Amino acid sequence: MNFGLTEEQQMVKDQVTRFAETEIKPIAAELDKTHRHPQEICRKLGEMGVMGVAIPTEYGGAGMDIVTYVHAMIAISKACASCGVIVSVNNSLYGFPVNTFGTEEQKLKYLTPVASGKVEGCYALTEAGAGSDAGALACKAELKGDKFIVNGTKRFITNGNVAQYCVLAATTDASRGYKAVINLIVDLKNTPGFSTGKIEEKMGILASGTAELVFEDAEVPAANLLGKEGQGFKQMLMGLDCGRIGIGSQACGIGKAALEDALDYAKERVQFGKPISTFQAIQFKLADMATELDAAELLLLRAAWMEDNHLDYEKESAMAKMYASDVAMRAAIEGVQIFGGYGYCKEYPAERHMRDAKICQIYEGTNEIQRVVIARKLLSMR
Ligand code: CAA
Repeated sequence: MNFGLTEEQQMVKDQVTRFAETEIKPIAAELDKTHRHPQEICRKLGEMGVMGVAIPTEYGGAGMDIVTYVHAMIAISKACASCGVIVSVNNSLYGFPVNTFGTEEQKLKYLTPVASGKVEGCYALTEAGAGSDAGALACKAELKGDKFIVNGTKRFITNGNVAQYCVLAATTDASRGYKAVINLIVDLKNTPGFSTGKIEEKMGILASGTAELVFEDAEVPAANLLGKEGQGFKQMLMGLDCGRIGIGSQACGIGKAALEDALDYAKERVQFGKPISTFQAIQFKLADMATELDAAELLLLRAAWMEDNHLDYEKESAMAKMYASDVAMRAAIEGVQIFGGYGYCKEYPAERHMRDAKICQIYEGTNEIQRVVIARKLLSMR
């Protein structure tokens, strides 16, 4: 077994880490405070190939693999969790389905600008009544001639306020459940009948916009259907399998940031005449945080390696996302505890890590849903 990276993977990892530390981390607190979409960061990451890490170069991506994507996502999220989720959605939730199920024409037109980071993409799945039960969509797409007429409202859509393109999950007939789900590519800036609704006020990842998308007799060309009718739900779940590696990596990055900040602080903070890092009560916390985060990274890299090698990685990506987000949350809470009163104040980033980590246990499938996915797979294998 080889835990090493190829020369190319190492080069990208180093390059992204350098960029994240010098250009993203210094503005993370400002982004959190102002809720500003970091457009300039997205464009620069696009130039570096990070907005489409595993997308082929002919469609604007870097032509790398998912293992590299994990390393890039961890480095970016360690610097800024909001930037992390923007990159994850662009790569996994938009990039993956268009790259995997799109026609040549669709990819050239709709994938290239997103994978090269010129504009953002998003995936519009969730609705008021369809969260964990992703097949219960009410957003309707009716084929009329050469167009789908779309009516419905999507909620909690990451990048929804800034994205130019969206993969929209809709139903052609709600009475047929998940079997009638389709995915349509929508040009959000040029679709009459589309508007952006409410922008959510959230607990964390504050520089990443979470929007309601409203479709009222919106006209989408029939040519923008991804794959065939009847395949939409499987396309969606396959995209989520890939996306869960992205969100797990985001969580792992947040946890590592909490750990590094706590390590530095524990060495500086003097109580009872000694740095608190000399006390076992603090050392044990740091040791647990580091061990759990390393285990999470290994789970993520295993899932990524399996995806790269075209193996069934549904269970492994669910395990990696669930575990990484649970240990990131624990690390962030312990980080605040090590900082004590300072950890509760905005003077230090510990409280931001805690607010940012929480969402990773919720989106891209709650951790309860991940356990359902894992258990179903385990039981089906006996
Ligand atoms: N890949 C391909 N096909 C799959 C699959 C997978 N991973 N999992 C299931 N399927 C297939 C099944 O084989 C079945 O097909 P057949 O009818 O041909 O047998 C079909 O899909 C239906 O499967 P289920 O009966 O298992 O479906 P279900 O209704 O019980 O739902 C679920 C399964 C796992 C609970 C799914 O609904 C789910 O993942 N829910 C969570 C939704 C989610 O993750 N939302 C995240 C929103 S996006 C987001 O959060 C992004 C963000 O903000 C950053």
